[in-house]
Amino acid sequence: MDRLQKVIAGAGIASRRKAEELILDGRVKVNGKVVKELGTKVGPSDKVEVNEIPIEKEEPVYFLMYKPRGVISSVKDEKGRKVVTDFFHEIKERIYPVGRLDYDTSGLLLLTNDGEFANLLMHPRNQIDKVYVAKLEGIPSKENLRKLEKGVQLEDGKTAPATVKLLSMDKKKQTSIIEITIHEGRNRQVRRMFEKIGHRVLKLKRERYAFLTLGGLKTGEARELTHHEVKQLRAAAQESVNKNS
Ligand code: URA
Repeated sequence: MDRLQKVIAGAGIASRRKAEELILDGRVKVNGKVVKELGTKVGPSDKVEVNEIPIEKEEPVYFLMYKPRGVISSVKDEKGRKVVTDFFHEIKERIYPVGRLDYDTSGLLLLTNDGEFANLLMHPRNQIDKVYVAKLEGIPSKENLRKLEKGVQLEDGKTAPATVKLLSMDKKKQTSIIEITIHEGRNRQVRRMFEKIGHRVLKLKRERYAFLTLGGLKTGEARELTHHEVKQLRAAAQESVNKNS
């Protein structure tokens, strides 16, 4: 959601200040109604008109990015830290991340300016596979990994069944590498799941989202999704939402 004056300015119709004047003068409509409040927020599915003329919608664009660690999954940060859209300066569309990865998590992140697509993917009933690889402090027992598979009680409820694989372990350093597939997207979920069984996550990377992988991308790189990938992803998410409703 963006402030109305920003959306008008972003469509190239007027400067931010001129857009504010247009709003105050009652020349702007949102979904057919005159809106005079400057703070009004609008999303991509809202119809904005200036002087009765709908503002041009941007062409939808879709990107898959290999997010580095130490970057915020947002379009701006109050503390001035690097954000994911800093990697897209040459893209004129106003894209934003679909969901988020923690500051310290690396890996696959989708970005788009298509609000409906983003909402569908972030729908709580969308239970598409998300595959993470975690480096843990310590080596979890089979019983503890089994607990994660069945679901563990976190402060915001029990986690849905997950798939967990021990990929490798370093007995000397007492660390292990685990692949975990989850279907939900709660805040810091993977870290909290491992903490629940007594293991701190040292590193976390999202390797896969549905059928999408990082492919040949290097950290900080991105590519556009193909038309077919967007279609497939939309269909998979819609099917998942319908199945779980
Ligand atoms: N789970 C986490 O703990 N962190 C992420 O960034 C994503 C999933």
